[in-house]
Amino acid sequence: MIRLEGKSAIVTGAAHGLGRAIASRLADEGAAVMVADARGNDAETAAETLRAAGYRAESVEVDVSDAAQVDAMVLSSIAAFGSVDILVNNAGISPVSPALETSEEDWDRVMAVNLKGCFLCSKAVGRKMVEAGTAGRIVNITSTAGTNARPGAGAYAASKAGIIQFTRVMALELGGRSITVNAVGPGMTITGSEVKPAPTDAYQTAFVNQVAAGRAGRPEDIAQAVAYLVSPEAEYVTGQVLFVDGGYSAGKLSVDG
Ligand SMILES: NC(=O)c1ccc[n+]([C@@H]2O[C@H](COP(=O)([O-])OP(=O)(O)OC[C@H]3O[C@@H](n4cnc5c(N)ncnc54)[C@H](O)[C@@H]3O)[C@@H](O)[C@H]2O)c1
Repeated sequence: MIRLEGKSAIVTGAAHGLGRAIASRLADEGAAVMVADARGNDAETAAETLRAAGYRAESVEVDVSDAAQVDAMVLSSIAAFGSVDILVNNAGISPVSPALETSEEDWDRVMAVNLKGCFLCSKAVGRKMVEAGTAGRIVNITSTAGTNARPGAGAYAASKAGIIQFTRVMALELGGRSITVNAVGPGMTITGSEVKPAPTDAYQTAFVNQVAAGRAGRPEDIAQAVAYLVSPEAEYVTGQVLFVDGGYSAGKLSVDG
C-alpha cells in the first residue's frame, strides 16, 4: 500500500531487528527513509539494500543519547530529503540484570539510550516539524515491559514505562500543531537480529504460553502497526499505546476448567 508518498522518515536503530523491518515497511509505503543507527556501517548496508530494491534511503551514524549527534542526524535527513515528516524512536538496549546487581553505569546507559534518546530525537525533530508547520508523526517503540513487570528488567522496564508517559505528554503538547505522538508496545518478537541474541527456548515457550494468539511476534506485526500510526488514516489517533503482543498484555490466560 502506498500511503506515504512524498513523506520522509527517520527510523532510529534501523540497522537491525525491528527498526530494519519498520524502515523497510515505511519505504514500501512510499516514504524516503533515513536509516539511523549507532552501527554506522550496518546502517549503510541496510540503506543500500533499500536503494537496491528501488526505494529512497540514506544512512547516518548516530548515538541517540548524544544531543549533538541527534541534531546532526536531523540536519542530514533534511539535507537528504528536504523535511522530516515521520520519526520512529526505535533504538533501544535491553540488558537483563537483577536490580541488586545492576551497576549505576548500566542503569544510566539504559536510561540514556532508551528514554533520553527518545526525548532528544523527539525534541530535535519536533522543533523542525513545528518550524515547517506541516503535519507530523512520532511513534515511540516501548514494550510490554513498560506495563508488565518481570524480574531482571528493572532499568529496561522503567525506561519503557517512561516512554509511555512521555508519549502522552508530547501528544498533548503537540496536538495543536497537527503532530501525533503514539507508542507501539511489542511483546516478544523474534527478529533474527544479528546483534541481539534470540530469547532462550525456555523463555520463548513460557512467553508463548501466555499469548492468546499462540505465537511469538514477527517483525512485520510491529512494522505494520507503525505504518498505520504514521499514515493519514491515523490523523485523529494520538497519545495512545498500541500493544502488538498477541494479547499478552490483556491479562493472564486462564487454566481450562
Ligand atoms: N524484539 C523484541 O522482542 C522487543 C520487544 C519489545 C520491545 N522491543 C524494542 O524494540 C526496539 C528494537 O529492538 P530489537 O529487538 O530490534 O533490538 P536490536 O538490538 O536487534 O536492534 C536495536 C538497534 O538499535 C541500535 N542502537 C542501540 N543503541 C543505539 C544508540 N545509542 N543509538 C542509535 N542506535 C542504537 C542497534 O545498533 C541496533 O541496530 C527496542 O527499543 C526494544 O526495546 C523489542
